[in-house]
Amino acid sequence: MTGDRLDLGFSNGSALELHLFWLRDNCRCPACWHSIARERAFDLMSLPPELGADVEITAGGALAVAWSGDGHRSLFDARWLLEHARAPEPRPRRRPWGADLADRIPTVAYDAVMHSDEGLHAWCRLLRDDGIAIVRGAPPEPMEVARVGRRIGFVWTHYPGEIHDVRPRPDPDSLAYTRLPLPLHTDLPARISPPGVQLLHCLINDATEGDSLVSDGLSVSIALRESSPDLHRVLTEQPVEFRFASPTVDYRCEAPILEYDAGGELHRVRCNSPLIVPPYLPWERTDLLYRAYRAFLATAADRRHLVQLRLRAGDILSLDNHRVLHGRNAFDPSSGARHLRSCYLDHDELTCRLRILARGSRQETPA
Ligand code: OGA
Ligand code: ZN
Ligand code: ZN
Repeated sequence: MTGDRLDLGFSNGSALELHLFWLRDNCRCPACWHSIARERAFDLMSLPPELGADVEITAGGALAVAWSGDGHRSLFDARWLLEHARAPEPRPRRRPWGADLADRIPTVAYDAVMHSDEGLHAWCRLLRDDGIAIVRGAPPEPMEVARVGRRIGFVWTHYPGEIHDVRPRPDPDSLAYTRLPLPLHTDLPARISPPGVQLLHCLINDATEGDSLVSDGLSVSIALRESSPDLHRVLTEQPVEFRFASPTVDYRCEAPILEYDAGGELHRVRCNSPLIVPPYLPWERTDLLYRAYRAFLATAADRRHLVQLRLRAGDILSLDNHRVLHGRNAFDPSSGARHLRSCYLDHDELTCRLRILARGSRQETPA
């Protein structure tokens, strides 16, 4: 041990370099760790700036630590140390897709999703990996979309409610509620945290047109980064404002169209031409922004990336709204009725459900 550093070797050849603060912070004795709440009950700030300790390996191979100062004692099982002293799990690899997805749209059966953990797990994995899946065979009940959503977790309650109708109406407060085309977009970009998952339940689709459009924002941003790195960078740096206003709400958010996480992975696409407030910037910046934004939209809509599909009654189109862009073609309501109902969930509900389901299949207890 040197200073705050403890080097440990294990009989299986593993070696760990442990920081004393890390070790003290991980004490799982009943005073430091509330085992029912599964939360740390110990106050890190109660420690002095420099830690000291006497360590010894017990006959059973555990690490026993006697902390100087307060005399606290901790015991660390070798297996626990090897399991916990490692970098966080990398984010699961998402599968970028292009126009070829049209021939193999990920699909799960409604009955499987509603009545089995396997079906639910399959659906959640598709949403995680492909960012898109159709749940087929949902009954045409008005509240069904939220029931299906609740298989994953809590459904958003927000303006204009838990579920909203997507069909033409005389007083639309969104282009979605008209017969007009909807360009490729992500939903609710005027929220600081737009919902991570969108469900669109098709109750009836008898209009001759009005096909759905989807494009993988992950593939599109990879393609744009390769073809025009400078334009791609503009979209990651330049915030633009999105607004959604109606007589009773006024949501606004300023953010870049492409957001990346600290590990360089695409975190979120926020894109919705009808809701963008064209930014007034110095001319050169405006020029760059429009070139970049138009290049992004052109890539999303080009034939290598765009998938056109027809929703049928009973289909629930589910989307990763932080990744996949969606839209629809115009339609003529006099050719037949078209009615979808939609709800949202946070991404956390999906990732939480995936962990719970994985725990069930491994018979694992929470960490
Ligand atoms: C929406 C939407 C698509 C459609 O309501 O967010 O994009 O097919 N609707 O009407
Ligand atoms: Zn303790
Ligand atoms: Zn939409």
